[in-house]
Amino acid sequence: MPRAVKIAVVLGTRPEIIKLASVIRELGDQAEVVNTGQHYDADMSGVFLKQLGIPEPKCNLGIGGKTRGAQIARGLEVMETHFRASSPAAVIVQGDTNSTLAGALAANALGIQLVHVEAGLRSYDRAMPEEHNRVLVDHLSDFLAAGTSGNLTNLVREGIDASSVEVTGNTVVEAVHAALPDEASRHQALADLHLTPNRFVLATIHRPENTDDPDQLAATLTELAQLGIPVVFPVHPRTRAAIERHGLEALLEKFVTTKPLDYQSFLGLAAHAAVIVSDSGGVQEEVTVLKRPLVVVRRSTERPESLEHFASIVPPGPKVGEAARAAIEDGRLLDVLATIPSPFGDGRASQRIAERIRALVA
Ligand code: UD1
Ligand code: UDP
Repeated sequence: MPRAVKIAVVLGTRPEIIKLASVIRELGDQAEVVNTGQHYDADMSGVFLKQLGIPEPKCNLGIGGKTRGAQIARGLEVMETHFRASSPAAVIVQGDTNSTLAGALAANALGIQLVHVEAGLRSYDRAMPEEHNRVLVDHLSDFLAAGTSGNLTNLVREGIDASSVEVTGNTVVEAVHAALPDEASRHQALADLHLTPNRFVLATIHRPENTDDPDQLAATLTELAQLGIPVVFPVHPRTRAAIERHGLEALLEKFVTTKPLDYQSFLGLAAHAAVIVSDSGGVQEEVTVLKRPLVVVRRSTERPESLEHFASIVPPGPKVGEAARAAIEDGRLLDVLATIPSPFGDGRASQRIAERIRALVA
């Protein structure tokens, strides 16, 4: 039997691990994992690699904790060397992080076919590094897996050939299906934290726009602290550092704070939260699978599909409290959301992506 061609899969941050796990599973022995190490704490990386069954990486880069420029430059340099030696038939990158751009540039430097999973998202907010990363990666890619038809439209509008794009759905749908704990385990986890289903809030904040300015961060935390029901707050390392830097530790006393949670535990809580308040990208998609309301604390979003039924978008400050309270007090909202299908796909995106990649490298 001829040896199957290898496909390099570049990941490095928590959302990349989550959203590429099912693609790696579909590719089986063909997948060779490259870990950039952009996220490096055990609870941001190692726990996810283990829980989601990611095979041992062929290459570890250790770009975590560096500046944006250094992450991209070092990632590009090491991956170019690695790909030259390992000669993958294609390189897969996901999303819009510095790791994503570094992997894409390395593939491009060597003329290796580039696959972008989660292509075509646009916030049109040029203050976000992620917007630059995703635009650049889309324009370097040979196959673009778009999560929604809106993502395809964004790409075509920029002159990208529609024949290189497929609307596959977003792999987050199958990620949620695979990792959500069963109901009994979820209820036990809630009881362990003294939480009642539908009577608590789950909050995550990590974007520079929400953490770098002490007034903005304090305003959001103050609003959350006044909601009148428990707020579970798993704290991202960027946010933890910002809270310490700005001297805002006292505000945390009102929350059930935790370290970043493993994926199963996070989804288990999200599935029963009265409302989720977050600036996360992935959470905007997950709530549509879990059928929960979300308040997006951002000035722009690249995921307008969530805003149709599941989410509202507000800037940091008083509107956060207003929007969260409205969701908590709406007696019909959960029943309505339960009937609405996710706009992000049917849970077979990874299968479609793997099939298309096999055809690409055949
Ligand atoms: C990165 C991505 C962002 C994504 C997020 C997912 C870019 C430009 N940003 O943001 O799009 O939403 O990951 O969570 O690529 N840190 C630790 N331990 C860790 C990881 C980070 O202490 O395991 C610290 C770093 O040292 C740094 C800060 O957190 O000071 C930010 O990390 P970085 O990877 O630069 O960006 P994120 O904010 O995590
Ligand atoms: N997540 C998690 N534990 C947490 C917080 C988030 O497992 O404590 C998951 C969440 O379900 C989502 C992903 O991490 O799938 C999102 O990561 P993040 O918000 O850091 O990045 P983004 O999606 O904004 O790029």
